[in-house]
Amino acid sequence: MTADTMKLEDELPVIDFAGIRGPESKNIREKIAKACEWGFFQVINHGIDASLMERVEEAYKEFFHLPVEEKQKYTTEGADYEGWCSAKLEPNPDEEENGFINRKTCEFMYHVVLSADPNHTRRVPKYPTALRPTVLEYMKQVKEAEENVLAAMSEALGLEAGSLRKCVAPADVSIRGNFYPLQTADNIVGSVPGHSDMSMITFLQADKVPGLEIKKDDRWVRVKPLPKAFIVNMGDCIEVLSNGRFRSVEHRAYGNDTQERVSLASFYVPSKAATIGPVEEILDELHPPRFRYANYGDLLKTFFKKGADGKGYVEALHIKT
Ligand code: OGA
Ligand code: NI
Repeated sequence: MTADTMKLEDELPVIDFAGIRGPESKNIREKIAKACEWGFFQVINHGIDASLMERVEEAYKEFFHLPVEEKQKYTTEGADYEGWCSAKLEPNPDEEENGFINRKTCEFMYHVVLSADPNHTRRVPKYPTALRPTVLEYMKQVKEAEENVLAAMSEALGLEAGSLRKCVAPADVSIRGNFYPLQTADNIVGSVPGHSDMSMITFLQADKVPGLEIKKDDRWVRVKPLPKAFIVNMGDCIEVLSNGRFRSVEHRAYGNDTQERVSLASFYVPSKAATIGPVEEILDELHPPRFRYANYGDLLKTFFKKGADGKGYVEALHIKT
């Protein structure tokens, strides 16, 4: 697990969203589009309220600190795999991994917070009481910032600003709170294994304790996040929709032995009814489709069954020539 010590923050593009609606708008949107081709960037002045970021992180931390018996009431279930998941609950906790998390100590909680399905019921935990209202408000703000990025990407593809959003509408926005407890002599540190996200795009809040690693030119490099920044990455769906112009990037994350770590990954995901495939307007004789078309709901089912698989899901749709 030796990550390269090279400082990725020297390379990771930083985008300042301030002025996205002013005269600088065109410049900023062009920068965003360029960074999306890279696959990963950090965004500052993103419009998401700083105190809300703190409060939502605190609420997740408080939940993860609850006794196992309380957390177990929310064990992952149902078609959306929502709830709390810990490798500790596996029949054989010494197993190297359960698809989503490695080793004994890592846990996460996943919820579709803004669902387009009117019948969807949110099983966000009752405790801490601040969690539900805080995460709801947080996701609304994150969704808006995500749609700003998607608009810039649509324009970069020569499409109308709302195009990518419309291709996958009505989108869901979900959040995965990851908890990496402190590593101790008898507590092996947990990790999230190498994967690319299935989403269109992901906003990751992890600005306090480093631990995220990105696969860049076949090397794993660690990201040092800027305070109050979000780390934005492209998901598999956008790689397919953009016919490979925007790239999802493999990443993984670890805890450590000096500080516990909480990260919040907010996924902008297509409607389950959406067809995922290259947007037709960007195809022509010189640019034939490089990916097959698939139903997003079906892709998601396979993902929940198989777990993390590097860039396996996007590769499975790749048309080999
Ligand atoms: C994820 C993820 C990274 C982290 O939840 O999809 O990549 O830093 N998390 O926890
Ligand atoms: Ni991820």
